Amino acid sequence: MRKNASFIAIFFFVAVLLYMLSRKEFSPIPADEKHVNVTVKERCLDCHAKDKESPLKKEHPPKDQCFECHKRAKK
Ligand code: HEC
Ligand code: HEC
Repeated sequence: MRKNASFIAIFFFVAVLLYMLSRKEFSPIPADEKHVNVTVKERCLDCHAKDKESPLKKEHPPKDQCFECHKRAKK
């Protein structure tokens, strides 16, 4: 029983830690009027592609599936 309890405690500690790290690494999608209604990545690229309003940096990771890394900021 004891062993189980500490295992669970460690598991949650690691889970929370990973969650915090992942929050830090990827900037959230801002919760402003430019972003709230955008649900498909094709729309993201209307502004974030090269030569648009807010182009991605050259070293930005592969430009697919925005939502896997960028979560929505809470209002
Ligand atoms: C109408 C144009 C527009 C669309 C569409 C758009 N963005 Fe943006 N985005 C911007 C602008 C401009 C900024 C710069 C900050 C600001 O003014 O909100 C920005 C900022 C960001 C940031 C924060 C960057 C930082 O430095 O913190 C992320 C992440 C982001 N956008 C992701 C997305 C994703 C993912 C989508 C698709 C769901 C998307 N954007 C759609 C214009 C747009
Ligand atoms: C593999 C994970 C990943 C994916 C997929 C991804 N991004 Fe990013 N993005 C990052 C990282 C890491 C950064 C740089 C650190 C930060 O600003 O959070 C970043 C930064 C940004 C920025 C800030 C400007 C910059 O270039 O640093 C914007 C805007 C952005 N991403 C938009 C998008 C859009 C739009 C998509 C989909 C077309 C997308 N991202 C897909 C990981 C990702």
